[in-house]
Amino acid sequence: QVASLAERYESAFDIGAAVEPYQLNGRQGKILKHHYNSIVAENAMKPISLQPQEGQWDWEGADKIVEFARKNDMNLRFHTLVWHNQVPDWFFLDENGNPMVDEIDAEKRDANKALLLERMKTHIQTVVERYKDDVDSWDVVNEVIDDNGGLRNSPWYQITGTDYIKVAFETARKYAGEEAKLYINDYNTEVPSKRDDLHNLVSQLLDQGVPIDGVGHQAHIQIDWPSIEETRESFEMFTELGLDNQVTELDVSLYGWPPDNAYETYDDIPAEDFERQAVRYDQLFELYEELEADISSVTFWGIADNHTWLDDRAEQYSGVGIDAPFLFDENYRVKPAFWKVID
Ligand code: XIL
Repeated sequence: QVASLAERYESAFDIGAAVEPYQLNGRQGKILKHHYNSIVAENAMKPISLQPQEGQWDWEGADKIVEFARKNDMNLRFHTLVWHNQVPDWFFLDENGNPMVDEIDAEKRDANKALLLERMKTHIQTVVERYKDDVDSWDVVNEVIDDNGGLRNSPWYQITGTDYIKVAFETARKYAGEEAKLYINDYNTEVPSKRDDLHNLVSQLLDQGVPIDGVGHQAHIQIDWPSIEETRESFEMFTELGLDNQVTELDVSLYGWPPDNAYETYDDIPAEDFERQAVRYDQLFELYEELEADISSVTFWGIADNHTWLDDRAEQYSGVGIDAPFLFDENYRVKPAFWKVID
């Protein structure tokens, strides 16, 4: 039995993995119990999974994950209360079934906004009341910043402005209680322009008394990008605001963006790529450890290379679905990166 990742970093931060309910059994279940002390649902707790139709709830997958965390004494991250993806359309339809974003009448626009915020509050209240005793950290809103500057122009934003963000945090706090940790989660938080937009938004919200505890840095990154310096800078800027940082969706892709030159099979990946990836993981965890007072958890967006959302992205651009972002290979064997991280 190799040394445990969670034990190695026990005094610094949690080590987590994103899971689908079916991954809790067998080989993957064993790896989870040995190496991780935190889990998050890869898809099972998103709005489209929990409330596909208004008032019709499906708790099955989410409950399984909660049960596993409870039984194995693991921390639980909740992902995600509010997002523009994987949210069912019914949220954004008015009483007549028309898209709210098309409304031009000012009075009806106000009514739509009120209706959407009401639906959001009901969703948050219902979910939080069910899981509040089990969840430690909540992704309250996900990906609200636009890559090209400012706020993401999602239906949430078009219909409510920034009010949905404020109301989401206030509602989560109201039902989850004071001990709950509430996060604003996003990707490319290392990129200076996006980082600054997020920093501005969070500063404004904090000034208005909005209850935000921390920033979730997704960290869908590459071997050579972004730089360690930018990564450090981002953590430090949010720490200075008095916030916690969590690394919430870590994976280190072998490819650039877009991933248009993917290998055809896993066996085609040269050993050299795994060595470069190991150096990258080494530098990252060295940084995380150095900043351990400012980082409360580091979660990978999967367990082993046999199951990663990056395969779908590689396939979209290359026609082949191979990436290898984790510490365990497609047969759950430890990779060079594992030895760097455990060292
Ligand atoms: C991804 C899942 O991994 C996929 O299985 C699903 O098809 C799409 O969503 N940012 C997020 C995550 O916040 O929820 C996304 O997860 C990956 C990007």
